[in-house]
Order: sequence, then C-alpha cells, then structure tokens
Amino acid sequence: MEGRYKKLIPVRARIEEVVDEVPGVRTFYLRVEGDFTEPLPGQFNEVYMHGVGEVPISVSDVTSDGLIAHTIRAAGSVTNAIVGLGEGDYLGLRGPYGKGWPIDRLEGKDVLIVAGGLGLAPLRPVIREVEKNRSTYGKFTLMYGARSPKLLLYKYEFPRYESIPNTEFLVTVDKPDAAWDGCVGVVTTLFSRASIDPERTVALVCGPEIMMRFTVKELKNMGFKDNQIYLSLERRMKCGVGLCGHCQVGPYFVCKHGPVFPYWMIKKYFWVDQI
Ligand SMILES: Cc1cc2nc3c(=O)[nH]c(=O)nc-3n(C[C@H](O)[C@H](O)[C@H](O)COP(=O)(O)OP(=O)(O)OC[C@H]3O[C@@H](n4cnc5c(N)ncnc54)[C@H](O)[C@@H]3O)c2cc1C
Ligand code: FES
Repeated sequence: MEGRYKKLIPVRARIEEVVDEVPGVRTFYLRVEGDFTEPLPGQFNEVYMHGVGEVPISVSDVTSDGLIAHTIRAAGSVTNAIVGLGEGDYLGLRGPYGKGWPIDRLEGKDVLIVAGGLGLAPLRPVIREVEKNRSTYGKFTLMYGARSPKLLLYKYEFPRYESIPNTEFLVTVDKPDAAWDGCVGVVTTLFSRASIDPERTVALVCGPEIMMRFTVKELKNMGFKDNQIYLSLERRMKCGVGLCGHCQVGPYFVCKHGPVFPYWMIKKYFWVDQI
C-alpha cells in the first residue's frame, strides 16, 4: 500500500506498562507491532480503541527501548474506555501527526517551558531532549502549575528535572493542601521568581487555553517577540491529517499545520473563544 494511505490505518500496539499518574490520568507505554516512524517532540497519534473510537493524544515520551508513551485523561467515552485498559491489552495507533516543537530553533538559545496541568505531557519530550543534549541549549527554565498538589503530573520525575544542569525548575499550585510548602498561585505568578532574558529565550507553552492567554500576555509584557513564542493548540479532530476540516482555526488545520504553532501565525485567532 502507498505510504500516504498506509499512515491512515492504525497499527497494533501492545500496552507494556501503565503508570497511574494523578486521579483519572494514566500513562500507557506502548510497543508498536509493525512499522512506525518515531514521533518528534510535540507530535500526536490518533489512539484507537476497537469498538469504541479514536482520539488524538500527544506523545509524552519515547523510551530508549522504543516504547511510545501517551498520558491520557479520562474525559469522555473514548478516553474513559482507554484509561480502563491494562498491561497486555491492545490499542491501535496511527501517526505520528502534526508539527511539533521547533527543536532546531532552540539550538544555542535559552529555553523556557510554561506548562499547566496535563500540558506538561506534550512538553516532556522537550525536557528529555534538553537533558540529553544539554550543551546544545542555554539556560533552561521550566515553570509548571496545577490546580492542586494532587494534580501535579510526573511528580516522581521532579528530582530529575531539578538535577538538569543550568536549570531553574519552578512549580506552583492554585490551591495548596496542608502538606504543600511550595509556591501558591497560577503559573504566571512564577515569572516574578524566574530570571529570564527575553532577548535570548524561546518560550514553549502548553496548557488550558486561559492559562496560555495569560502566559502570552506576560511574555509580551516582558518583551518576547511573536516569533519567540510557541503554543500547542487542542481542537476536536477526526481525520488527523488535514482532510476533514474538524480542527480548523482560521485558514489552518491544527492537525496538519500544528498542533504547535508560532504565536505570530495564530495570534489573530488565539484570542477568539471557540464556538
Ligand atoms: C493535538 C491534541 C493532543 C492531545 N493530547 C492529549 C493528551 O496528551 N492527553 C489527553 O488526555 N488528551 C489529549 N487531547 C485531548 C483528547 O483528544 C480529548 O480529551 C479526547 O478526544 C476526548 O474524547 P472522548 O471521546 O474521551 O470524550 P468526548 O466525549 O469527545 O469529550 C469529553 C470532553 O472533552 C472535550 N474535548 C473533546 N475533544 C477535545 C479536544 N480535542 N480538545 C479539547 N477538548 C476536547 C469535550 O468538549 C468534552 O467536554 C489532545 C487533543 C489534541 C487535539
Ligand atoms: S482533524 Fe481532519 S482536518 Fe484536522
């Protein structure tokens, strides 16, 4: 079959490991059976559960032995069914799709990640990249916020993030619990604690739309130019490959031209609420 059409047919993927992350969110480590292109940071797959349906999910890791990780929140019918699966079960995967984070553009620059909630998942491959090729990039700042300490994703990896050389790792929660002794407030409150040089930094942002809007405002106030800000957008999708139009934002298809966009490209549509 022609490569172009082959990419539309899901390949079988065995669930090798499942990690319970936070309530309602699990990470699935998948062994793909058959040909599959290694996903780039920021790309997504259409994840198919037989008899239920298909959903776009970002790649949250590719392990050294080739497992592809998807961190999935039970949101509706398909994701609830997937989250109920266990080791040894099978999913279908087609992809990887979309344009990911601009790794080439980060070379020699300071890198700023701003993530909210589950938005850390599509950025985890960038953290891995900075960690692996540390000397390629300048100062690394990772700012992460969640609604409560219980909802902080990948908490078990935080010591690892902290130990990356030349890195500032800042975490905040909206609502602390009794045990929390860290920062309190939305993720943008972390900007006053970080030392960021807007001249030499590229910012990668992912999280709920409202969080991304406040983050962009803050970055613009600091002097970031439109071409120094990248955002990962979420829209309802069907085909995932630019055929059906479900994911359209202005003239762009989020599945094909995104999901990661430079701010200059989508700023006209970014402030308009979805219908
Ligand atoms: C590029 C991309 C990457 C994504 N990455 C992840 C990820 O890494 N992990 C993850 O858990 N989810 C991710 N999502 C969101 C995920 O695709 C939706 O939660 C899923 O499609 C919901 O399907 P469902 O049948 O379970 O629920 P539905 O019954 O279809 O919807 C349940 C709820 O989720 C909302 N919703 C549905 N689809 C979307 C969407 N595309 N964007 C925003 N809200 C939606 C609905 O409005 C509704 O409130 C991503 C979406 C996109 C477009
Ligand atoms: S999901 Fe069909 S065009 Fe994007």
